[in-house]
Amino acid sequence: MSTEPTIEIREMCLEDVQQVISIEREIFLFPWSPGNFSDSIRSGYVCRTIAEESTILGYGITMMSLEEAHILTLGVSANWQKQGLGRMLIEYFANYARIEGAKSIWLDVRESNQGAISLYKKMGFIHVAIRKGYYPAMWGREDALVMKLEL
Ligand SMILES: CC(C)(COP(=O)(O)OP(=O)(O)OC[C@H]1O[C@@H](n2cnc3c(N)ncnc32)[C@H](O)[C@@H]1OP(=O)(O)O)[C@@H](O)C(=O)NCCC(=O)NCCS
Repeated sequence: MSTEPTIEIREMCLEDVQQVISIEREIFLFPWSPGNFSDSIRSGYVCRTIAEESTILGYGITMMSLEEAHILTLGVSANWQKQGLGRMLIEYFANYARIEGAKSIWLDVRESNQGAISLYKKMGFIHVAIRKGYYPAMWGREDALVMKLEL
């Protein structure tokens, strides 16, 4: 019998918010608040963690509408980045959305976030629009790239 710890994707619950928020603050310059996460859980958004036993390594939140799904946030703890977890979360959300009948999955990303953009492109997302000045930035505002994956 294998005793290797397994990494799995689970539903995010309110008790997870503390761990999620500490990753959020580590990896984002403009982090979501704990209330943003708990409201997302209470609103019935698809809130998931990726975890090894009781340790949360990453998370993502997706909002479903009739024909489209929107990834609202996605993050992997700094020590665990570039090990395939971000890809696992996106594949999970894409499959979930497909099963629910969505035709496409969308996300916004800062134009300076070349790491995330290259991951999304590798996964088949295409850049479809720009939202001018969508994000706060250290000096002024920053544009968002709107990206879409056909399911
Ligand atoms: C973006 C993020 C979620 C990606 O998660 P991750 O677990 O590091 O990504 P993965 O290991 O699954 O990478 C998947 C692919 O994308 C590529 N990739 C990931 N990060 C990259 C980077 N910084 N630069 C270049 N390529 C990158 C990987 O090389 C990999 O390609 P491969 O499968 O062909 O080897 C994670 O880096 C993160 O949390 N960043 C900070 C927060 C953030 O920017 N979130 C996204 C907001 S839109």
